[in-house]
Amino acid sequence: MVVVSTIEELRAALAKLKKAGKKGALVPTMGALHKGHLSLISQVEEVDNYVAVSIFVNPTQFLPTEDLSKYPRTLQTDLDACEDMGVDLVFTPSIEEMYTHNQHIQFGISKLADEMCGKSRPGHFEGVVQVVNKLFNLFQPDVAIFGQKDFQQFRIINAMVHEFNHTVKLLMAPISREQDGLARSSRNRYLSERERKEAPLLYQCIKQIKEYIYKTRSIDLSTATSILNASELKIDYLNVYGTKDLAPVDEPELGNTYVIAGAVYAGRTRLIDNEIIKL
Ligand code: PAJ
Repeated sequence: MVVVSTIEELRAALAKLKKAGKKGALVPTMGALHKGHLSLISQVEEVDNYVAVSIFVNPTQFLPTEDLSKYPRTLQTDLDACEDMGVDLVFTPSIEEMYTHNQHIQFGISKLADEMCGKSRPGHFEGVVQVVNKLFNLFQPDVAIFGQKDFQQFRIINAMVHEFNHTVKLLMAPISREQDGLARSSRNRYLSERERKEAPLLYQCIKQIKEYIYKTRSIDLSTATSILNASELKIDYLNVYGTKDLAPVDEPELGNTYVIAGAVYAGRTRLIDNEIIKL
């Protein structure tokens, strides 16, 4: 496994792989790798010839009030995990390597970032798109794989790829969960014992909303909301959205696809989850 931290080294390593006629897949991450990240890597291996992973805690997607300085950094363990997974190339740039100059040009996102996580994290997805655009330009991957766990992120990156003519093919990997249903996340390690016990409630509530929709073809959030309100978890949002426009839905229609998505705070830790349904 080749590990590089400068763009120059990255370009040289990629040239070698491409010269050997290999097609490539990229898995962008912020490190602190867990089984969810590794499930992305294993999906890629089946369809492509080389697998590259980027590990970069991107400062431009954190709000000033968020956990950038405290975000878990476990580089050596991450590299060991990548090696075990048969990853070919890991890119671990510094902030200076990625953002050498003042950035004069930034992305603006219309509508797709208005709801869900974009509403409570203004500017977050602009930062995500900025860094993923750079990564796609640097790697020129044939395939890039992202998790359904960050469904809004996937939808926005998909729009960027389409609207800015990237040739990469995007794949969405299913949500990897703990045994009790909690979606795996680098931030789960912040949870106290009590918070960890309550955290799976978010997924249980999403499933309750799903079952109600399938049964009645209508949306009722009241049961799920009261279950969460009776716990220590604090709701940021919980609703049903169209998978294309990410706008909240009042009356689901037959034949359409929706995403039931929610975010809660367990203490200071923000947890997100979702489920896609087709009526
Ligand atoms: P990060 O949170 O490290 O996640 C990297 C990738 O792993 C994302 O595509 C995310 O959706 C996926 N992932 C995380 N937990 C998962 C789970 N439990 N099941 C399946 N996939 C999961 O998302 C980011 O980093 C950043 O925003 C990034 C795209 C790297 C840009 O900086």
